[in-house]
Amino acid sequence: MNIILMGLPGAGKGTQASKIIKKYPIPHISTGDMFRLAIKNGTELGKEAKSFMDRGELVPDEVTIGIVKERLSQSDAKDGFLLDGFPRTVEQAEALNSIMQELGTKIDRTIYVEVAEEELMNRLTGRRICEVCGKTYHLVFNPPKQEGVCDLDGGKLYQREDDNPETVANRLEVNIQQTAPMLDFYEDQGVLVKVDGSRDIDEVFDDVDAILQSI
Ligand code: AP5
Ligand code: ZN
Repeated sequence: MNIILMGLPGAGKGTQASKIIKKYPIPHISTGDMFRLAIKNGTELGKEAKSFMDRGELVPDEVTIGIVKERLSQSDAKDGFLLDGFPRTVEQAEALNSIMQELGTKIDRTIYVEVAEEELMNRLTGRRICEVCGKTYHLVFNPPKQEGVCDLDGGKLYQREDDNPETVANRLEVNIQQTAPMLDFYEDQGVLVKVDGSRDIDEVFDDVDAILQSI
């Protein structure tokens, strides 16, 4: 099962991905997470990515395509994968198709989680993440039982550096520009399915799950 989870920043890709991998044993490949890990580890990749991420810009295609190609070649991705946040440009989508051809496989579904722009700013500026396990919360829509503390492990919750209103505004603008041609690309390939992401997290997952079960 080779799946792409697409959606504007804050649409709920990460939230849905964590529910998907609980049910389906496929690796969750998030380019945003890969870049954040590289930044944390102080690698060359991290240094390069950070300047773009801090401004809410896209990391250059050649860098991003390179890390995804390497990741998809690893053995745990052989029997399926969940891509989250990649591809994000038509160039990346075309490169992904070439990688699929080289690996002798194909994308089964591209699930587009659709949420109105006005809602996304609220979702992103209210997001909080556990510093221990990485679980994502929202101050209003998905609050922890105790303020500032993870339900699972008592870890402290923090805010992502790019979740301030200025950077969010730029992320939204940049991604909105890129999204329409990508949707056309996958529509033409006959693998695009849209899900209404404005509903409750569990309701959205029911739709996502139904799509996955139909593969
Ligand atoms: P990345 O980490 O991928 O960020 P993003 O696309 O901006 O998406 P987010 O992780 O912010 O949102 P999400 O859709 O996962 O939402 P979440 O589930 O957390 O990328 C970061 C940066 O890395 C980019 O800006 C770029 O610089 C670089 N990058 C990454 N990939 C790249 C690529 N391919 N090419 C070039 N550069 C790349 O939910 C958000 C909030 O809403 C949470 O608080 C959550 O609790 C809440 N929520 C979720 N679902 C619901 C719901 N149904 N109802 C109410 N609240 C909800
Ligand atoms: Zn936690």
